[in-house]
Amino acid sequence: MVHEDVKEILFDEQQIAECVQRLGAQISTDYAGEKLLLVTVLKGAFIFMADLARAITSDIEIDFMAVSSYGAEAKSSGVVRIIKDLNAAVEGRHILIVEDILDSGLTLKYLIKNLRSRRPLSVGVVTLLLKEGRQETDVTCQYVGLICPDEFVVGYGLDYAESYRNLPYIGVLDPQVYRD
Ligand code: IMP
Ligand code: MG
Repeated sequence: MVHEDVKEILFDEQQIAECVQRLGAQISTDYAGEKLLLVTVLKGAFIFMADLARAITSDIEIDFMAVSSYGAEAKSSGVVRIIKDLNAAVEGRHILIVEDILDSGLTLKYLIKNLRSRRPLSVGVVTLLLKEGRQETDVTCQYVGLICPDEFVVGYGLDYAESYRNLPYIGVLDPQVYRD
């Protein structure tokens, strides 16, 4: 059953699962023999992280960071605030940032700079979704899951005003929901 506020399903459960398996396999190969710290960007990436972590066979540690770049609005304010910082130390470690979606790239740009200042061995990025043609800044993601069109998407962790995170698929939100 598709939620009534969802205009169209972009990626169903099976497509997402296959994508996550592929990313997990690549990461396991690339970081074999290393201990990797996965930095989850809350809240949007929480479901992706839970699945990705189980698709990785190399040694990982998991930590969480919460940042806010949007209010209850459907577009980026460009201002990033750290709401919750990591517990783990970053110095001398391989870090992989786990993001739900790369839109303008402003959030990631800020996060990468912030984490680099803590002197890690490396900082990489895995993003489940990349919004086509939206990047305003030159951030490189080592791992990209799925390319999505320039529309507001929800589900599989992604929200609009904190709703829809629990949808098992990723779909386009009906614009009427945020125009009202
Ligand atoms: P950016 O800073 O513009 O790249 O936005 C990054 C953050 O905005 C993502 O991590 C999401 O939390 C949120 N975001 C961007 N686009 C969408 C969307 O289409 N649906 C839901 N959240 C989004
Ligand atoms: Mg996010």
